Amino acid sequence: MEKDVIKVKIHIDGKESLVKQGSSILEAALENHIQIPTLCHHPALSDWGGCRMCMVEVDGAPRLVASCVTPVRDGMTVVTSNDKIIQSRRIILEFLFAERNHNCMFCPRSGDCELQELAYELQMDHLTVPPSFQEFPVDMTTEFLGMDHNRCILCGRCVRACKEISGAQVINFKNRGPHNLIAFDLGQTRGDSTCYECGVCMQVCPTGAIYNRYSTHYAVKGHSKEWTAIESCCPRCGLLCPTVSYVANNNLIKIEGKLLYENKRPDKGQLCFKGRFEIFKSRNQRLFHPMVRNQKGNWEEETWENALDLIAKRLGEIRDREGEKAIFSMASSGCSSEQLLFFRDLMKGAWNADHMDTFDGPHFRTIRKAWNNLGISYPETSWRAIAEADFVLLVGANPMKTQPVIASLLRRCILEKGVRIAVLGQMDSLPPFIHDHIPIENRDACLLAKAMIPDLLTNAHRISRIDPVESLLRKSGEIYPGEILEKAGVHQDARKILHDVAEAFSNARNPLVMLGEEAIGAGNAGGVRDAFLLSLMNGLSPNGAARIIILKPYGNSAGAWNLGVASNNDPNAKDEWNGGLFLLNGEEIPKGFSFDKMNPEGFFAVLSPCFRETLANKVQVFIPLPLSMEEDGAYASLDGRETICCKQILSPPSEVKSSWETLWGLAQRAGFHPEFHSWEELQKKVKKEIA
Ligand code: FES
Repeated sequence: MEKDVIKVKIHIDGKESLVKQGSSILEAALENHIQIPTLCHHPALSDWGGCRMCMVEVDGAPRLVASCVTPVRDGMTVVTSNDKIIQSRRIILEFLFAERNHNCMFCPRSGDCELQELAYELQMDHLTVPPSFQEFPVDMTTEFLGMDHNRCILCGRCVRACKEISGAQVINFKNRGPHNLIAFDLGQTRGDSTCYECGVCMQVCPTGAIYNRYSTHYAVKGHSKEWTAIESCCPRCGLLCPTVSYVANNNLIKIEGKLLYENKRPDKGQLCFKGRFEIFKSRNQRLFHPMVRNQKGNWEEETWENALDLIAKRLGEIRDREGEKAIFSMASSGCSSEQLLFFRDLMKGAWNADHMDTFDGPHFRTIRKAWNNLGISYPETSWRAIAEADFVLLVGANPMKTQPVIASLLRRCILEKGVRIAVLGQMDSLPPFIHDHIPIENRDACLLAKAMIPDLLTNAHRISRIDPVESLLRKSGEIYPGEILEKAGVHQDARKILHDVAEAFSNARNPLVMLGEEAIGAGNAGGVRDAFLLSLMNGLSPNGAARIIILKPYGNSAGAWNLGVASNNDPNAKDEWNGGLFLLNGEEIPKGFSFDKMNPEGFFAVLSPCFRETLANKVQVFIPLPLSMEEDGAYASLDGRETICCKQILSPPSEVKSSWETLWGLAQRAGFHPEFHSWEELQKKVKKEIA
């Protein structure tokens, strides 16, 4: 018997069983492999006891009781199925069908619906009560999620998931009786509400009331339950959230989070809109054939051989004619570590590319400089530390944009533990209940953080590692908070808020600092880009522990940085590039990226799963790549300490070659002979380099 667990003896369906005291009858039944039908119950959510589908007979009880909310007691006798119980469940089911328009034939989730399955199980082939439904609205006001109130059974799973898992609290009930509906915020449409479209409501919805607008009627298209569930993780932001992808005939049907992972991850196994929906969008924007821009500027399909020949030949000519410094390579840190490593070696080995960088190179350079300044490397803390934080300071960071699951964790920290959260910088969708917020006009949140320094130093008795800070302060000269605030376009009143924030930071036991785009990215307006702030925050961490989380912009930023793909050199030092290659993961070119140095007469090519209009008149060749879901790939966690292989979920379209074939084809044509000769050897090299 488990230590400290008190067990009680019950009789369930004639069988004697020892079960944990405090567990529900439903849990006890499941432990004994007895199935009880449920609707409002979900194992990842608190119980509510609303639908009454799980009714059972208990000795001494005058009527049936809901097993999901009734705890076991010692000596209890339970019957989970007899004529009376089945009759009760059928009546409930019939009323549910009668109250709304559950016309399964036209439902987007027909074949993947718990209500429909129950009807089959209880053999409900007609209604014995008259239908009484009225017409309710269908809410199609957001990109990913459809909400059909006519198919809602008001089980409240979405309401609880929105609060307990996402921490959003956007969904609730409104009205009473037959007019009872699920509502968003104060009765807005989903689009006008503060819904973040994480989709956890859809994952727990037992009917077709909430569905993925990019994937409907999948069961009636002939895939009914012939699905394969493939476990992997999401490569989109560095949190590497566990996923279960459902696939039929090489079609992706849905992606779910592993909600029962709550003991292992503080995010309770949820997914955000990126992990759950964006792959459906990318699949609609595919590039299937190599494309070459002809002399008139029009794009034409080309064979793989000719397109690869063209790239190898033209880049070789530029290198021979103008020297290696004429060629650059630019990669997306959303690519897998295998793609990045091969690309890195190819560009150096084949064309001796002078400048190799990633779109998030400016972030990398800021951080590298910071750690060099302090004499330590990469002392970031894991995002999991958010769960223990008692004060969080966001400097120029917008987790809703970069790592939405972190935003969800922050919301839950506020709701469940009253953690104080302060934001320095702009934030489009500010989470509710933020304690302190100083928006700034010139987007330079670091300046505000710098203005906190005198207050932080006043509280220095709480801080162990003050020496490096003082020496940095001395190096950086005097600090005039008034001038800093003026430069940042913030009213002097903000001084009081900054003072409070600094005090809270200093007095916290587990403070965390999150740094984002506006603090470390290309848009930052110099000044404190000298890494002063980063070093300072690290020095001020209580007990010398590094308590910084850097919200990197791409799924494999830390992997790209660890592999040395992001450059230490300043790309602005070069006047012009005459040739180069882009490696993309299907995303758009970031807004801040400058094409100014690309010679319009030069030759540039792109390897990407999708065609991108922003590059259409800047490059001459597009070569298709598989999507991240279409081949195995290693991705680093946000802090770079962990690397996980995200599994292949789908086969790429037959016309699209693997990354290996494309990069190997280019290497062969360019006369470059890498030290690895297969994808497996490449994987080993990745492991070796990041170990
Ligand atoms: Fe128990 Fe709904 S599942 S009351």
